[in-house]
Amino acid sequence: MIGKHFILTGSTSGLGKSILKQLLAKKVNVTVLVRNSEKLKDVIEKYGMSHLSIIQCDLQSTEAIYNITKQLKSQKFDGLIYCSGLGYFKTIAHHTSKEMLETYQLNVIHFNILLEILKPYLTNYPSIIGISSQAAFVTQASAAHYGASKAAFYQTLNALRIECPNYHILTVNTGPIDTPFHKKADPSNNYANKYRKIMLNADELAKKIIKGIITKQDEINQPKWMFVMLKFYQIAPRFFEQHFTKLFKNKS
Ligand SMILES: NC(=O)c1ccc[n+]([C@@H]2O[C@H](COP(=O)([O-])OP(=O)(O)OC[C@H]3O[C@@H](n4cnc5c(N)ncnc54)[C@H](OP(=O)(O)O)[C@@H]3O)[C@@H](O)[C@H]2O)c1
Repeated sequence: MIGKHFILTGSTSGLGKSILKQLLAKKVNVTVLVRNSEKLKDVIEKYGMSHLSIIQCDLQSTEAIYNITKQLKSQKFDGLIYCSGLGYFKTIAHHTSKEMLETYQLNVIHFNILLEILKPYLTNYPSIIGISSQAAFVTQASAAHYGASKAAFYQTLNALRIECPNYHILTVNTGPIDTPFHKKADPSNNYANKYRKIMLNADELAKKIIKGIITKQDEINQPKWMFVMLKFYQIAPRFFEQHFTKLFKNKS
């Protein structure tokens, strides 16, 4: 990884921040797209700026995404790590149009636009890493749009793997991680408080992701037990939803 250059989104918090720190510790060059660079103060204090470039970009804004090329010079990037994401843990009826649009824009559509814009700046064999979710594989009350956006993201990445064989595509399908994500998704913090014990540690997951980039893995599914359980669920999803309904309402 030394000397390589990655573009990273979502670096100001949670999993993305863990990935950023570990890349900088390995002396990998990272260009981050952030909307609030103040949130990187602690990272800059520890690792300096010699391997870090910051581009201001609100990933909800198509215009801001198009404008990033103005700040890119002739450098080539070895990959894109798309770690930004959001969700609202509320019923379909309770989502406002703004919340729905935000969810799909950030989680899927703007990833696509960003990748298209970055294409001329990528090396011939880049790694594209997308942080999806185990939520892509299960129907859940109060997380429909989040799950749907992650399922769309997962499908997009899988299709890219076929359409662009020169790309190394790594999809990271993760279960709950202990990050500030939950406070934003569910301000009551009920879900996080209930499930904190089973949440993944962001630093450990980041380590697995970096290993996955180096070893050119196609998928990381964590935690393994959740991935296996959801494989059984997929054999007869409507049966499980009817007979174990409570399990599918745990985000309510
Ligand atoms: N935490 C979980 O349990 C969990 C489970 C499955 C999948 N995931 C996925 O893992 C990824 C990382 O999540 P996390 O847990 O680390 O969440 P997080 O702590 O909330 O971090 C989200 C990151 O996305 C950035 N972001 C959000 N909106 C943005 C925008 N408009 N423009 C630029 N950046 C924006 C945030 O920037 P700001 O700091 O400016 O807000 C932050 O850096 C996400 O894709 C999430 O869906 C998380």
